[in-house]
Amino acid sequence: MKILFFGDIDGKIGRKAVAKILPRWQKKYRPDIIIANADNVTHGRGMNQKHFDYLSELGIDIFTAGDHTLERKEAEALLNSSEIVVLRPFNLEGDFPGRGEAIFSIRKKKLLVISLLGRVFMDEPVNNPFQAIDSILDKYKSSEYDLAIVDLHAEATSEKHAFAWYVDGRVNAVFGTHTHVQTADERILPKGTAAISDVGFCGAIDSVIGVDKKEIINHFLTGKNFVLKIPEFGPAQVNGVLVEFGKNKLAKKIKRLQEKVIIK
Ligand SMILES: [Fe+2]
Ligand SMILES: [Fe+2]
Repeated sequence: MKILFFGDIDGKIGRKAVAKILPRWQKKYRPDIIIANADNVTHGRGMNQKHFDYLSELGIDIFTAGDHTLERKEAEALLNSSEIVVLRPFNLEGDFPGRGEAIFSIRKKKLLVISLLGRVFMDEPVNNPFQAIDSILDKYKSSEYDLAIVDLHAEATSEKHAFAWYVDGRVNAVFGTHTHVQTADERILPKGTAAISDVGFCGAIDSVIGVDKKEIINHFLTGKNFVLKIPEFGPAQVNGVLVEFGKNKLAKKIKRLQEKVIIK
């Protein structure tokens, strides 16, 4: 069984880039289930219904969350829809719509997918993700699902490495997201958990992690706020990770994927 995971799809250029690359990767890698991080889908902040429909039609089965998921009004309807396919971060403090974890039945497979936020260098008030994963794994019997997958949306590689070691052998894969830069540390840990610190994003290359470079340089130079401008055209990168699981449910292979496309 193979899972293809796309890192943060960022803005229109990111959506278009995924639309170009996804059919190629489907043909080449034949994934059984496709998951994508939806933190930045609609102009960098969360995801609206229209863009959810667009990406679902391309073949993405499940959407995980991030620090921007709840910034958009429309998020509530997506997160509360009867057939949940969009998650919010599980460990946000307080009451929020939707769910941060769910068992998805897709193509005869049952997948426990969990969306968590990290705490190091992050502003959001969130509960400890290490304690959160324990509470989730206690809640379900392992016979209830075939594979457990975590998206840990976090800034620090240290937190993501520690988390992967902490859950080794208890979840089947940990995909790091949020930094937008793909890390070259993909591996399968001794007890069979596939992990990567950051899958990398899908968006504009000539930018600062997806945002107009002039705006961000000016922000660093002067300390002034920046306008969230996302380049719409030009070179774009699609970053993903493919994990193959054996019959014993342990990860067999993990492969980093990265492809460049020009969006006109
Ligand atoms: Fe994020
Ligand atoms: Fe992001």
